[in-house]
Parts: sequence; structure tokens; C-alpha cells
Amino acid sequence: MYQKLQQCVQAIRARTDFVPSVALVLGSGLGKYAQEMDLVCEIPYADIPGFPCSTVAGHDGRYLFGYVAGVPVVAMKGRVHYYEGYDIADVVLPIRTMGLLGAKTLLLTNAAGGIDPTFVPGDLMLITDQIASAVPSPLRGPNLAELGDRFPDMSEIYDRSLREQVRQVAGECGIPLREGVYYQTAGPNYETPAEIRCYRQAGASAVGMSTGCEAIVAKHMGMKICGISCITNMAAGILDQPLAHEEVQQVADRVQKQFSHLVTAVMKRLK
Ligand code: HPA
Repeated sequence: MYQKLQQCVQAIRARTDFVPSVALVLGSGLGKYAQEMDLVCEIPYADIPGFPCSTVAGHDGRYLFGYVAGVPVVAMKGRVHYYEGYDIADVVLPIRTMGLLGAKTLLLTNAAGGIDPTFVPGDLMLITDQIASAVPSPLRGPNLAELGDRFPDMSEIYDRSLREQVRQVAGECGIPLREGVYYQTAGPNYETPAEIRCYRQAGASAVGMSTGCEAIVAKHMGMKICGISCITNMAAGILDQPLAHEEVQQVADRVQKQFSHLVTAVMKRLK
């Protein structure tokens, strides 16, 4: 795996010598974030040997290299999910690659279902902690000692000081920000109401099919991590109505402007 990672880094280095300080994962709701960047280079995942490519129709997959408010950023436009059938270590390969390219900070975004009954679709939620035990650990298998420890501490995955900065920035921008624990499922099916009751009892405020495993490998590498979920729908059984992928997409599109605004304001703070 370490060799594979190095091959990916080499393939990218053959195209650009850009060194990012921040890595950004653009989830649903930030699909058009490239517009906010002064782009220097774009590399489709398909051009990188061994790289996982999304199997979901219409899901673009590429790295965007460029500047946001003067900050050198590498952004992932599109990510692969565990439910697509990839090994979990391949799902997180793009995150590790961004770490090896030089990014010290990781800003994760996603779409998630709201479990906290006080949430409404369209809310943005700062991720305070996570439960990712429904998917295998991405650190399973031989430890990549070049990257980190065998048994890394996860008691503060989402960096306390970054969380405080995001809170402040959101306040200054007048963007209401909820907070809570993110629960990662394996997907691709949405959850049952009984599962959601179980996750709620376990302390989760939102549920989704990405992000948790990404945060684990980034923490393993010693990156500082921050996560923001766009609550696109209420999770199963919270409202007396079925879930529809179209609703998730529509709400993500509706929140796009505010979400982009928050991310850019956070970048300015990171400068
Ligand atoms: N469940 C899981 N993943 C999701 C949801 C959900 O309700 N909404 C958006 N991603």
C-alpha cells in the first residue's frame, strides 16, 4: 500500500509541483466549489495509476489544485465510497495522498441525514466526534509505519482549535451552525428507523456514508481535521415519510451558496 501511495504521489508530481497546506473534500453541496478557487491544475483520478474512481453515474472525480483566499489548497471533487465495493484502504487512498503531497490540515464535508430531531434539512453541522465502527477500520492490515503508529489515539479526531475557529467564523458570517457526532454507515441503503433509534441512543446527531474512515487515516498521519455536514434530510423514521436521493441532492444544491461561503471564510481564517 505504501508503494502504491508513492506511485500516486509520483504521478501527481509529474504534473504539478504545487504544495497544498490545506486538503478539502467537497461533498454533496459543494460540487461547484471550483468556482471559488484560483485553479492552478486539475488532475482526473482516472489519470493516476491505481486510483479508485467513482462508479456512481455523474460523479466527477478529480483533484483541484489552487488557491482560496491565498491559501494553497488541494480539493477532492468527488470521492469514492465504501459501498461502491472498494477495499476500505482504497477508499481512503486519496486522503493519504493529499497528506503526502504536504497538506497539514484536512477539511471534510459531506451530506448527512439528521438524527437530532431539532435539526432541519439545510442545516450545517460542525462534526465534534464520530462513530465509524460500522465499517472496517481503514488502518486494518500491516501498519504503514512511514505514516503513523499502529494504535493511534482517536480521543480528539476533530481538532479542538479548528472547531473553535469554525464556530467563530460561522458566527461572524451570520451562518447558524449546529454541532454533533457523525455516524458512518457502510451504505448504500439508507437506514431503517430502528437503526436510527439505535444510533441516536449511541449519541449520534447525523448519519452518512463517508468521512469517518477518511478522518481516521488523516488522524493516523497527524493531520489536523475539521468536518462539516450538510443536513440534507431527516434520517429514517424521524419524520413519517420515506427518504429520496433526489431530496438529498436538491437540499445540497439549495445550501450550496451558504456552505461555500462558510468554507471560504474558514480558509481565510486558516491563512
Ligand atoms: N443516511 C445516510 N447517508 C445520507 C443520508 C441519510 O439519511 N442523507 C445523506 N446522506
